[in-house]
Amino acid sequence: MNPKPFIALDFPTWERTSDFLNLFSESLNVKVGMELYLQNGPVILEKILSKNHRIFLDLKLHDIPNTVYGAMKGLAGFDLELLNVHAAGGGVMMEKALEGLYAGTPVNHKRAQLIAVTQLTSTTEAQMQKEQLIPTSINESVLHYATLAKQAGLDGVVCSPHEASLISEHCGIDFLRVTPGIRLANDQAGDQKRVTTPHLARELGSSYIVVGRSITAAENPVLAYERIVHEWEANA
Ligand code: C5P
Repeated sequence: MNPKPFIALDFPTWERTSDFLNLFSESLNVKVGMELYLQNGPVILEKILSKNHRIFLDLKLHDIPNTVYGAMKGLAGFDLELLNVHAAGGGVMMEKALEGLYAGTPVNHKRAQLIAVTQLTSTTEAQMQKEQLIPTSINESVLHYATLAKQAGLDGVVCSPHEASLISEHCGIDFLRVTPGIRLANDQAGDQKRVTTPHLARELGSSYIVVGRSITAAENPVLAYERIVHEWEANA
């Protein structure tokens, strides 16, 4: 897969998405999340793919194993690069998600990679302990979920760059660390709590970064994207 950052297309409509994509002359790695997908349906994937962009579909599935199996089997029919589930759904749910993905991938097509969300980058350690009743450090919780995902056969996890090296140490360098919570030095963190710059994310061992508002809310999104790519690649 092309190692460029994934741009989070957190827009409500195809019109806004298309206006944004038309600013760029190159083929991009993009992330489609629940805002865009749930308001526009699967046709949004076809539209983006027809413009030659590569898609990470970030629906963070979390349901009983049989339901997740069926959802993944259906989504496997699209030409996607990456899909995800919540590790908190459990080992069996993750195994069934992967089975669904294999079952739905058309013959002679490459299976999309499947990763698991560990702890959201908008969650602090204090929140996790108080609200989820997990009495460990956030690192331990993330590593636990990553190990569970690895055992279920998944290709990697979504985590913060701060946890990336711990995960590669325990799960291997090929186990993906896809990291949101990325900001340029002077940008607002917004609701994200565990943020880093693209430069630091690379240094800390991210495999891919996911960037939304630092690009989509910038005065000049193309320039912001180029700065992020430059910081991310300068440290490769
Ligand atoms: O705008 P911002 O760069 O904060 O966007 C980050 C994107 O990554 C959002 O689309 C969000 O849903 C997604 N994401 C995240 N934390 C996770 C998984 C996905 O922020 N653990």
